[in-house]
Amino acid sequence: MSEIWYKKSMKPIGIFDSGIGGLTVLKEIQEEVPREDLVYFGDTARVPYGTKSKETITKFSLDNVRFLQNFDVKMVVVACNTAASLSLDVLKTSFSMPIIGVIEPGAKEALAATKNGRIGVIGTKATIGSGSYEACLKRLKPSLKVYSQACPLFVPFVEEGWLDGEVVTQVAKTYLEPLKTFGIDTLILGCTHYPLLSSVIRKTVGEEVSLVNSAEETAKEVRRLLTKLKAEAPRKKGNPETRFFVSDEPEQFRTLGERFLGRSITSVAKVGDYVRG
Ligand code: DGL
Repeated sequence: MSEIWYKKSMKPIGIFDSGIGGLTVLKEIQEEVPREDLVYFGDTARVPYGTKSKETITKFSLDNVRFLQNFDVKMVVVACNTAASLSLDVLKTSFSMPIIGVIEPGAKEALAATKNGRIGVIGTKATIGSGSYEACLKRLKPSLKVYSQACPLFVPFVEEGWLDGEVVTQVAKTYLEPLKTFGIDTLILGCTHYPLLSSVIRKTVGEEVSLVNSAEETAKEVRRLLTKLKAEAPRKKGNPETRFFVSDEPEQFRTLGERFLGRSITSVAKVGDYVRG
């Protein structure tokens, strides 16, 4: 075993999101590549990203990757559709480590799921405004019909832990019923926060619509890339470690995160003022 290979393979994978939503991706990555060490950063001080400009989102994303670089990560997963839609190109040209987003994996999964070629996409205002999913889907298959809808209230609901109930259901109806009139058979949950609302979304759009969550396909992409780069964690490595960092108050993140991951999160550290300047 060469020393260079060993050093690279022992490094952690960095994952970031604007808040808690990226845990949907972390969960799948843990299942897909269970030996890997992970470092998760949720930019809870600056969430939501989805209402902000491309310039601001790009600046935040650059800060986040710089933070993850402190852990000498071997790869970064942009576990945020908004950051991936608006800043993936800049990130890829700004850093030398491999960086992957969630848009293309989600689009591929939707293409595999649709039978009638009518796909709905929901996401933040910034993601929908960027047209990233539509462009990617049409690149994969130009004849697809894509119908998009921004759902800006969904992220604050999730960050507050409002995952069901009357208010959430009513808002979901307002956003999603118009999409149903287009006869979609597949709906891309184009925001990593939205899988946490999937039972309400499912009730609103009906059983016949396939819900696509890009997290699973993104995790597979992580595995493929690790194999290609020969950077998988060695078999005999010790227990895998996942570290969590946030840029604001850790308690809410920990409580909700545990509820979602279904296991305890022993520590969430608040990062200092690394984002300044
Ligand atoms: N979780 C993020 C996404 O996938 C965005 C939430 C936000 O910060 O607005 O788009």
